[in-house]
Amino acid sequence: MTDVALMERVVWPRCKSALSTNTRRLAEINKLVEARLKDLSVEQKVAQLIQAELASVEPEDIRRFGLGSILNGGGVSPNANKRASIEDWWNLANEFQTAARESEAGIPIFWGTDAVHGHNNVFSATIFPHNIALGAANDSDLVERLGAATARDVLDTGIDWVFAPTLAVPCDYRWGRTYEGYSQEPEIVARLGSAMLCGLQGDPASTEFFDENHVVATSKHFVGEGSTLDGIDQGDALCSEIDLLNIHALGHIAALKAGAQVVMAAFNSWNNEKVHGSWYLLQEVLKDQMGFDGFVVSDWDGFAQLDGDPETACIRSINAGVDMLMVSSDWRGVYERVLNAARIGEIDDVRLNDAVGRILRVKALRGMLTPNWRLPSTRSKQTLGSNSKRELAREAIRKSLVMLKNSNGLLPLETKKRIVVVGKSARDIAQQCGGWTLTWQGTNNETDDFPDAVSIESGIRGVISAGGGVVSFIDEVDDETDADTAIVVFGEEPYAEGEGDLNHLSFSQDDSLPLAQMKALNARGIPVVALFLTGRPRWINPELNASDAFVVCWLPGTQGGAIADVLFKDSANTVRYDFTGRLAFSWPLDSSLTCIDRDSNQPDSYLPVGYGLTYEEKVSFEQLSETDVSMGTSLRGPSFQGSYNYPNP
Ligand code: BGC
Ligand code: BGC
Repeated sequence: MTDVALMERVVWPRCKSALSTNTRRLAEINKLVEARLKDLSVEQKVAQLIQAELASVEPEDIRRFGLGSILNGGGVSPNANKRASIEDWWNLANEFQTAARESEAGIPIFWGTDAVHGHNNVFSATIFPHNIALGAANDSDLVERLGAATARDVLDTGIDWVFAPTLAVPCDYRWGRTYEGYSQEPEIVARLGSAMLCGLQGDPASTEFFDENHVVATSKHFVGEGSTLDGIDQGDALCSEIDLLNIHALGHIAALKAGAQVVMAAFNSWNNEKVHGSWYLLQEVLKDQMGFDGFVVSDWDGFAQLDGDPETACIRSINAGVDMLMVSSDWRGVYERVLNAARIGEIDDVRLNDAVGRILRVKALRGMLTPNWRLPSTRSKQTLGSNSKRELAREAIRKSLVMLKNSNGLLPLETKKRIVVVGKSARDIAQQCGGWTLTWQGTNNETDDFPDAVSIESGIRGVISAGGGVVSFIDEVDDETDADTAIVVFGEEPYAEGEGDLNHLSFSQDDSLPLAQMKALNARGIPVVALFLTGRPRWINPELNASDAFVVCWLPGTQGGAIADVLFKDSANTVRYDFTGRLAFSWPLDSSLTCIDRDSNQPDSYLPVGYGLTYEEKVSFEQLSETDVSMGTSLRGPSFQGSYNYPNP
């Protein structure tokens, strides 16, 4: 194993944003922060460093302790009600802010939430495609508009802070968070990630930055999470410092330049040292060399994973440069331990004041430290779930679809035909949305959890009925099945971090039914269009061979009707939308491969980044090898080695 201390050090770039050139505003902000800091007791200072999870904290606790922040974790909502209304969110946010105002220090509280593809914890919000789809669309203007729309929805619930964008550069597709990354190409991650950040926060060069239409965003997770050995979530990123900089930090560099004020520390280790305990990465690299002047928030109990005495892990993490601790449940215990450490000087005044000052500075930039800071209840109501959001979602989906194969120009389809839609995935909104949707893993969701959502099937029905054709739906092909064309919809079931890790990429190893359906259709002479819902490239050579046309739909979210917009011509027989999506990850055509092909030294083993057909191109697609060498092989140990329910120290 590489010894970090012995590795050659690289020089990290200084990342200035337009924010730092507004010296007058900054001087005012710093004055405000200094003044507040001076008046705070050590108890009040330590309280600012704590972020408690909604399920374990009441407004009363905020009134009493004056904590700096709360979050709602994945799937956590007001009154533990998945269908909590916007008013429920709004009222609760108001209660928390009122309590913060009434606490001794009176400092407004930051509420953070994972709005990673729209405001995804909130019933009735429009769910946008996951980042992997946006990477395929590769349109920064679109991504910025998605960020702005998400910010509006988040503000509608009285929340000011979002844990997005994810700037991971996933390298091993077995990783269950691959879909949270835009691309394997650091440049694409940097460009789209900073566009998302600007959409969420506003342009730092303008007055819209952090105004009442924008939220505070998070550059996450710093750094190296996409490079863990075997794609194991929270594992060890074994890479050189130069790769850490040039590949894995590129998104963060762009985000800092675009005005990121919060960075979330990554769960993973870098060469055997947990980032949450790395003074080198957090203090020397991020704060000193890169010049980051916002605050670092830990990931979910991330500090608790440091080696050594669990009692002091939170203290060591703060001393390594983490400013705010995200605590799953035992926030009182963590508060007591940090307070004690501050009293006895285990956390010295310089570090304590630096951490609190950073948090207050972001609050001040957000306008929270001025007397005219408004409670959520006095802000104007916006447009959660509006038509314009749904239209935006449809645009994003249309642009993200990637056509891998189109033999004999089967697509686009005419609407005056008999179409059979095959497979329950065609009706499964939860599957369309994937992880981080209403629940943490995206599991246990039903179709009626998504009012106003459109399934892929109903989108197809819409265009066909307008065009005079006929649609039928079947779960499985049988002797009666008859149609001009079959559309088989299939793919991965929802998953998120940890649970979504795999030890092979072969899709049919996990679910052989879609392939069997395609073969049955082949035998009946019915042409097959395959639509694949997935959060990552999978090895699908058999399915590619068994279909005439193949489209990767990624995890499109609630507006699945957009897919029919592209697949079908209009009733006058003209193409409405051509495909523009391109692979932002190389796609393995060899079942033994699980990682990206950055150097393209095996060109025949992958469909390369940039691949994607249009209706203009008539490309013949050769039969692919169906030898599945991954069958039965476990390329590594148990698929999930993270520690989600990590005992509190
Ligand atoms: C929470 C998530 C969190 C995860 C980490 C879940 O119970 O809902 O937000 O990321 O735990 O352990
Ligand atoms: C995830 C973060 C997320 C946090 C809060 C963690 O488990 O790694 O991405 O923001 O939980 O839900």
